[in-house]
Amino acid sequence: MGRVEHHIILGDAPERKKVTIFVDGDPLEAYEGEVIAAALWAHGKKTLRYTKKDNRPRGIYCGIGRCTDCVMIVDGVPNVRTCVTPVRDGMVIQTQKGLGQWKEGGGSEND
Ligand code: FES
Repeated sequence: MGRVEHHIILGDAPERKKVTIFVDGDPLEAYEGEVIAAALWAHGKKTLRYTKKDNRPRGIYCGIGRCTDCVMIVDGVPNVRTCVTPVRDGMVIQTQKGLGQWKEGGGSEND
């Protein structure tokens, strides 16, 4: 994983509980308390959604929950800002395509 395990000033990273999240069907290891986008970045996944108009990739931009570039479908809920949403063990995450609108009868437009 691409994580800072030792920092020259802060020292070693503290021990953290590991959890498993499922991203586009693949299980990934994450640390309890970290945000979804950070966990995905650590695994090299930097495209979090695709735009509706031109199908262009988007990822972390502001990193503080303001721009919506990082939205994904989380446990069936579209438009979740992954830069400010902590992981939870067993969480199911999907790359969002388009606006992530709800479909009538349940689910999202990705389904
Ligand atoms: S990166 Fe801007 S809202 Fe998440």
